[in-house]
Amino acid sequence: TQRSLVLLKPDAVRRGLTGEIISRIERKAGWQITALELRTLDAETLEQHYGEHKGKPFYEPLVEFMASGPVVALVVEGERVIEGVRALAGPTDPIAAAPGSIRGDYGVIVRENLIHASDSEESAERELKIFFPGRV
Ligand code: GTP
Ligand code: MG
Repeated sequence: TQRSLVLLKPDAVRRGLTGEIISRIERKAGWQITALELRTLDAETLEQHYGEHKGKPFYEPLVEFMASGPVVALVVEGERVIEGVRALAGPTDPIAAAPGSIRGDYGVIVRENLIHASDSEESAERELKIFFPGRV
């Protein structure tokens, strides 16, 4: 079984889409949400989380956006959740994401793509320590 760190980004919270997105995750057979918190991310947390993108042209606007309002941070556990939540989310660019995926149904702008989900077991363990230290 796997764990994934999922963030419902500030656009999802502002647009009132968190319930809809959480429902899609909850309905997957055998998956459990084992932690959930609404919080506004600070610069240090975002630098740790998105450090791999530091120096890229989209990095500064990305972290500014991610700090622009609260996010919902979740831990999802279950069979193949890492691959599975990424599949529910769809590709990074919402216009390339198929209808039926979260980004495909609700997104237009690459930066405002509604959801983050860990992309590997190594990323998941690293991100879980950042967002839920001592709890996971
Ligand atoms: P996350 O789950 O947020 O990590 O998205 P991802 O794994 O699908 O994409 P990635 O980790 O490569 O990039 C992180 C975030 O940076 C994306 O979700 C986008 O919001 C933003 N981003 C990535 N690539 C681009 C880009 O080429 N242009 C812009 N404007 N934003 C980008
Ligand atoms: Mg990523």
